[in-house]
Amino acid sequence: MRYLYTFLCALFFPILLAEANDKPRIIPQPSYVSVAGEGFFMFTDKTVFAVENEAQANLTQPFLELFTHAAGYTPKLKVDSKRGDVVFRSDASLSKESYRLEVFSKRMTISASDNRGFFYALQTVRQLLAPSLESPQKVEVGWTIPAMTITDNPRFSYRGLMIDVARYFLPKENLLRVIDCMAMLKLNKLHLHLTDDNGWRIEIKKYPLLTEVGSRRVERKDIPFPARKNARQGEPTVEKGFYTQDDIREIVAYASQRQIDVIPEIEMPAHSNAALAAYPLLACPSVDKFIGVLPGLGGNHADIVYCAGNDEVFTFLQHVLDEVMDLFPSHYIHLGGDEVNTSNWEQCPLCRCRMKQENIQNVADLQGYFMNRINTYVKSKGREMMGWDELTRSKLPEGSVIFGWRGKGLAGLDAARQGHSFVMTPAQVLYLIRYQGPQWFEPLTYFGNNTLKDVYDYEPTDKNWSSKDKKLLLGIQGSLWTEFCSSPKDVEYLLFPRLAALAESAWCTTTNKDWKLFLEALDSFNERMVLKDIQVAQSMYNIQHQVMPANEGLEVALECIRPDMEIRYTLDGSTPTVSSDRYDRKISIKKDVQVKASTFKNEKMMGKVLTIPIQFNKVTAKRLLRGKDNERLLMNGVRGSLKYTDGEWVGWERNDSINITFDLRQRISISSVQLGCMNNFGMAVHKPRTIEVWLSDDDRDYWKISQKDFEDEDIFKEDTSIEDIVLSVQDSARYVRIVVKGAGSCPLTHVRPGQESKVYLDEIIIK
Ligand code: ACM
Ligand code: ZN
Repeated sequence: MRYLYTFLCALFFPILLAEANDKPRIIPQPSYVSVAGEGFFMFTDKTVFAVENEAQANLTQPFLELFTHAAGYTPKLKVDSKRGDVVFRSDASLSKESYRLEVFSKRMTISASDNRGFFYALQTVRQLLAPSLESPQKVEVGWTIPAMTITDNPRFSYRGLMIDVARYFLPKENLLRVIDCMAMLKLNKLHLHLTDDNGWRIEIKKYPLLTEVGSRRVERKDIPFPARKNARQGEPTVEKGFYTQDDIREIVAYASQRQIDVIPEIEMPAHSNAALAAYPLLACPSVDKFIGVLPGLGGNHADIVYCAGNDEVFTFLQHVLDEVMDLFPSHYIHLGGDEVNTSNWEQCPLCRCRMKQENIQNVADLQGYFMNRINTYVKSKGREMMGWDELTRSKLPEGSVIFGWRGKGLAGLDAARQGHSFVMTPAQVLYLIRYQGPQWFEPLTYFGNNTLKDVYDYEPTDKNWSSKDKKLLLGIQGSLWTEFCSSPKDVEYLLFPRLAALAESAWCTTTNKDWKLFLEALDSFNERMVLKDIQVAQSMYNIQHQVMPANEGLEVALECIRPDMEIRYTLDGSTPTVSSDRYDRKISIKKDVQVKASTFKNEKMMGKVLTIPIQFNKVTAKRLLRGKDNERLLMNGVRGSLKYTDGEWVGWERNDSINITFDLRQRISISSVQLGCMNNFGMAVHKPRTIEVWLSDDDRDYWKISQKDFEDEDIFKEDTSIEDIVLSVQDSARYVRIVVKGAGSCPLTHVRPGQESKVYLDEIIIK
């Protein structure tokens, strides 16, 4: 027997504890761990859990079921008993949600002061066991844990994930699986974004059209979300999905057993086209357009919002909220409040009358009135409201909790300065819709990158925060908007593994975070996810490149967010192997090459192969005069991809006069100047209205040598593509100036009518 113990110890000890510092490889990393004990605890078919009451029995059940599948037996559960192998003990001296786990060779005791604490102790035990515990089939593994003591408590009381089930309707079964993964990570709030312009996803008995009409929309699956045109009246609405009230009860109960509060969000007054498609009389009477559920951003239909002057709107929303509050026991109800386009309110006779009657001076305060009125109702039912940070533009509803989301989320802090609690979910770090890795390898989505490391490194507070600000910060939330999702796998891909990083940022203090240890734990966590058939992104193994002019040539910088990866590369076009050159400093390039690189660990290729074709032309690696640093990307010999945010494209804040001047270092003959232009209809990125090329020998006197002008029908193309525009130039010069004017406002037929179009260029090619 002793031999067996030693053997199993050797088998599992290395899996469970990191080599350097005896810390267990679990996520989130516990606050205090002591591995002073001897031996290990082994689960068998004889193991008995002794719990104090039915509530503890209920929260233990999902843990026992893991054994039923993976071990082929179910440990016994004794309620109201102190005799067992795993013993639960209430200990009022422990703080909320915290626990103490003491593992001895013959016994395990779990102490906590509340159900959450007991549940989290079990999640720790879950991750201390071999990953195959998540296997749906029986596996032959010893279910053992080394003797140790863990004392653990969370940094934040709000550890949240928002899922937008309106843009993409996530089926119930998939949502339940995500909830189980959240539970494993000790996340405790699921914010369900149930309604938006693109779908109403919850059955409301009093208003059946909300789902009959509002949960259906026209299909535009093959077109990226922002480029989708609105529905025509009568067009079949074939994309559909909503949760019945029974579904909601099941979701809430499943989450509750896993100690997760489900916070429903019913959006108002904007993001409400789905509701208004069902009940158009609730929109301002000034709206004279057909109201349909939007398949995309909506263009000039995004200004269709609930009328703030019509009392029927408030009656309707109160009835909706009555059913919502019956279904969701959550103390907090999220009422949206973001991105209100007030143009109809300004014209609507009812809204204007309301402003006059209530002595409201502007439409921002009309929104304040709207939210305050609903807040009063919610409070009268014993609940409290949450809302997005635009609510800080008017008087904040009493007691409301504000979600800081725009940019770095600092409007949340404005709310705190007015005495309100807040949650940080800054778009620039915690919006999980954004790219999680080098964009050349990622499926299409919006904006810039929020990598696993960005989420891991996120620290919501800074030294300028007062202790009062810090007290009002309830916690942090990852927000997954689903514009680009069209299957449950797409949702999982964006969530995992970043949800693990979010959990660590929400649970651990900064001093208890260790990126390298986290990655070791993540490898084990990801094994668990794979066994649960969760799609896990591998983006953390891919290489981000940057090629920039330097020292009269080009320099290639390669980076992987995982420090345990070796980067190896070739310059001869061959696929890199474990014996290729190891990247340890920027690579200097003086001629056309193809750089190929990948990441390796233990002789195994881990990432995708990055291929960077570099092609020199007469301006490559020459000098940019007076430009911004990133404009040097135009002369790096590398073309951009179809994603204009991939790091190869240069865009300008103002598009009315872009002026780029190159010094070719000597007077040379030039036959053409070529501009790589992005067209991305959905994002209003279009080629310029006018391009001029000017030459000079002294950078003082310039002569215009070529010009091209374009008309609307050529500019506002409805696709995503790259067009090379060539201006022929038969002359010689040392200095080349390119003057570009953007196309101005997008036409009314555009998905972004009236918006200023943007110019993006990836490369200037001078021949
Ligand atoms: C939001 O992203 N509009 C809250
Ligand atoms: Zn109105």
